[in-house]
Amino acid sequence: MKGTLALRITVVCLAVAGIAVLVAGLVASRLVRTTADSVLQQSLRDQADVVAGQLGDTGIGNRLAVGKVADVVRGQGIEVVVHRAGGQDVGSADAVRAAERAGLTSGQDRSARIAVGKVDYLVEVRSVGARAAFALVQPARSGEATQRALVRNILLALGIGLLVAAVAGYVSGRLLGRPLRRAAAAAASLRAGRRDVRVPVEGPAEVAQVAGSLNELADALARSEARQREFLLSVSHELRTPLTAVTGFSEAIADGVAEGPDARRAGETIHREAQRLERLVTDLLELARLGADEFRLDLGTLDLAALVRDCAEVWQLRCARENVPLSAQIPSTPVLVTADARRLHQVVDGLAENALRVTPAGAPMVFALDTADGRAHLSVRDGGPGLAPEDYPVAFERGVLTARYRDRRPVGSGIGLALAHGLVTRMGGTLTAGPAPEGGAAFTIGLPLS
Ligand SMILES: Nc1ncnc2c1ncn2[C@@H]1O[C@H](COP(=O)(O)OP(=O)(O)OP(=O)(O)O)[C@@H](O)[C@H]1O
Ligand SMILES: [Mg+2]
Repeated sequence: MKGTLALRITVVCLAVAGIAVLVAGLVASRLVRTTADSVLQQSLRDQADVVAGQLGDTGIGNRLAVGKVADVVRGQGIEVVVHRAGGQDVGSADAVRAAERAGLTSGQDRSARIAVGKVDYLVEVRSVGARAAFALVQPARSGEATQRALVRNILLALGIGLLVAAVAGYVSGRLLGRPLRRAAAAAASLRAGRRDVRVPVEGPAEVAQVAGSLNELADALARSEARQREFLLSVSHELRTPLTAVTGFSEAIADGVAEGPDARRAGETIHREAQRLERLVTDLLELARLGADEFRLDLGTLDLAALVRDCAEVWQLRCARENVPLSAQIPSTPVLVTADARRLHQVVDGLAENALRVTPAGAPMVFALDTADGRAHLSVRDGGPGLAPEDYPVAFERGVLTARYRDRRPVGSGIGLALAHGLVTRMGGTLTAGPAPEGGAAFTIGLPLS
């Protein structure tokens, strides 16, 4: 329970309820005390006026009248102190002291609050006739009973408030905590390898957001693992083909089945397939390194027009062999960009290889270079079957398109486009895919001009 959401919310609710009740209590008690005091003083004042009226000018000499009045007010906890000229002030010691301090002998009407010992007294002095006076004296603590009742009520309110706060805090804490606990359990299942777990998206917005994010994470994990599986499948397939050739032909040589010119041809095949294997492994390594910091590019200013011209020269020969006319649209002025020349060659070669593989004899292939908005655009386009619209968003994810087209078209190992995209991005450029005016696909490298 320590540190749980329910506990924390409960503690916060308790604190808020406690503080609220205490503040309200303090304010109320001050208010009640001052009101009670002033009400008491006012009533004492009224009584003093009444008594003064009843005793009249001579009544103070009439002990019987005074005794009657004293009897009446004593019932309310009020004492009468009488002062007569030349005589001693009559009343209990504390009351007399309070009355005298309030100005019993001053010959004037007074109203005061006097402390005698530990008790506060409210005093009303009235002079009656010449040099005679009386005072009504009442302990101010008559309000204490009210005070005690007030404290009792505040404590009661505090108790009820705290109880309600505890229940409310605990319940809302549990309610809030439940979907979070469910999300944690789902995350644990994900960690344990299950990919079909989904959390209901409910509760307050923030909590629902956690559940939604977790579901998305599970989806993304499942997707990326499926891709990884497909990629591994395609790579192992791609590894197996040359390995089968190498094993077969080397066996033939070892067993003496292939002799003379046959053995030479077998050796050539083994060599070719071994080279294919080497290229594949190099590509795989490069792709893996692309994400690591150690990957270094040899950046320098180069003339992209010259680079494309070089590439076109090489590919002209290969395309001619397949009866695919290759045209190069290159500006006559230099197009300077900052890039790694060898890597850029590699990217163009990969794109051209993809294009040539699917372009039927007679259909065109184009290398086109132009500049716009401070960028150079180099496209490799073809008149082949092209790509479906849903292919473009995933074109640069390793293995995805290769897996998609494996049964319909000649494909490779599925690394080329992912590697090309990674390389161009590393050089600060972009690689995009789209339909070509020639009818097939167009892959365009964009690089900032330097
Ligand atoms: N110009 C294109 N026209 C039609 N399909 C293409 C084109 N370029 C690529 N593709 C499709 O995309 C897939 C992925 O290309 P990518 O270069 O990534 O891998 P690959 O060519 O199969 O293997 P690798 O390049 O590693 O030898 C290809 O197999 C092909 O099906
Ligand atoms: Mg390729």
